[in-house]
Amino acid sequence: MVVHPRTASWLKAQQWFARDAIGFSVGMCREYGDLVFLPAPFGLGQVLVYHPDHVHTLLVKLADKLEKPEIIKKIVRSSFGDGLLISEGAKWKRQRKLIQPAFHHGRIGRYGERIVALTEELSTTWMKGEVRDVPADMRALTLRIVVDALFKADISDDTKAIARGMQMLGEALAVQSRSPLLAFLPDSFPLPILRRKREAVALMNPVIYRLIRERKAEGEEREDLLSVLLFATDPETGQGMSENQLRDEVMTLFIAGHETTATTLSWALVELARHPAVEERVHAELDAALGDRLPTADDLSRMPYLQAVIQEVLRLYPPSILIIRRALEDLDLDDGNRIPKGTIIQINQYANHHDSRWFPEPESFQPERWLDAEFEKSLPKGAYIPFGAGPRICVGNGFALMEAPLVLATFCRRFHLENVGKPAEPVVGVAMGFKSPALMRVQVR
Ligand code: HEM
Repeated sequence: MVVHPRTASWLKAQQWFARDAIGFSVGMCREYGDLVFLPAPFGLGQVLVYHPDHVHTLLVKLADKLEKPEIIKKIVRSSFGDGLLISEGAKWKRQRKLIQPAFHHGRIGRYGERIVALTEELSTTWMKGEVRDVPADMRALTLRIVVDALFKADISDDTKAIARGMQMLGEALAVQSRSPLLAFLPDSFPLPILRRKREAVALMNPVIYRLIRERKAEGEEREDLLSVLLFATDPETGQGMSENQLRDEVMTLFIAGHETTATTLSWALVELARHPAVEERVHAELDAALGDRLPTADDLSRMPYLQAVIQEVLRLYPPSILIIRRALEDLDLDDGNRIPKGTIIQINQYANHHDSRWFPEPESFQPERWLDAEFEKSLPKGAYIPFGAGPRICVGNGFALMEAPLVLATFCRRFHLENVGKPAEPVVGVAMGFKSPALMRVQVR
């Protein structure tokens, strides 16, 4: 690999990103190559890193020489507090150790049954011939799933408050992350979008604190994520998490754990409706694996094609398009290229996933590509990273990769959906969303 760095205008790059984040992602790499420096004063200088070898070196080998930039932490801290997504250093390490066991393979399998039950509950409200706003349905479902996995209790009224708060928060965060000016403003600034952010937190905080306190008072462990968080202790100090830290982690899991899976599921349903041959193959696989019964987590190994559909959706529509870091020291990228201390590093998953060097016919939806084990093995390590890579890889990836195919299997057993209205187009928000509502007509199989 020989990567020749180029320099481009910082201002033009910011303007392009704000105008069209997706066009920017593929366009910058095509125009300027795999390593693009955007010089700027006041610590704003950036480097855009596209080559998978560099991506891997940074996220895996040099992970402890990077941190998340303060501006990202500022946008989210006032709502999620200092949860796993933005904590750093020794605190992040301790929290990751405490939280990771909640997502161990053996434990998450237990949530499968609830995921299918909650999906069935939604399915029974879908009527033949009606038109649904699928992303709204998927958002409501995945939020219910993560709330259920965390609290395993009947908290339907609380779920409504959390859902409303999350929606308000999600909208505010999406606007702030696209606008550098808004990102710099304090949350107390009198603007409607920031006021909604404060209102969202005020709506959710009492519910979350009450649920934590009630469970603490109960004193006994249940089979849910909250129990793992409540009863986890640091082996070195014997200490558990404070109530405020628990709140921060619960908020973080809500926000990180539902919109991402919701957009993945919505895009999967849209793409299945666009590709009848793919949908037919999914139906045939489901019928052979399940017959008349509902799916379980154990069935997933007998549904390789369905899993390939999810992998392909995560390639075409990665819910997180960027991973942003700041260099804590001068970095050596192994091939003579260097990144100076303080530079903001932008790793662009969207660009990598749409690069014809790694994915032939990158814009076309081809789940089959993932059925060839040699294809995946032949990919450079940083070319396909929907969940990130290295020590900060998504802690919920195993959960998401069980949830998404189980939900899809449960819907596809019963329904065939048709796209109606304008063709769905992606737009970058908190996750990879839709430019206009993705409306779909429900047909019963
Ligand atoms: C399709 C679904 C999902 C996608 C594509 C996704 C993607 C990601 C990515 C790319 C990161 C790394 C960000 C970075 O390095 O800057 C991340 C981190 C994280 N994700 Fe996910 N995620 C998904 C689902 C979930 C779920 C279901 C949960 C929890 C229930 C979750 C919880 C988290 C947390 C807590 C982190 C921070 C981990 C850390 O820094 O140690 N995610 N996710």
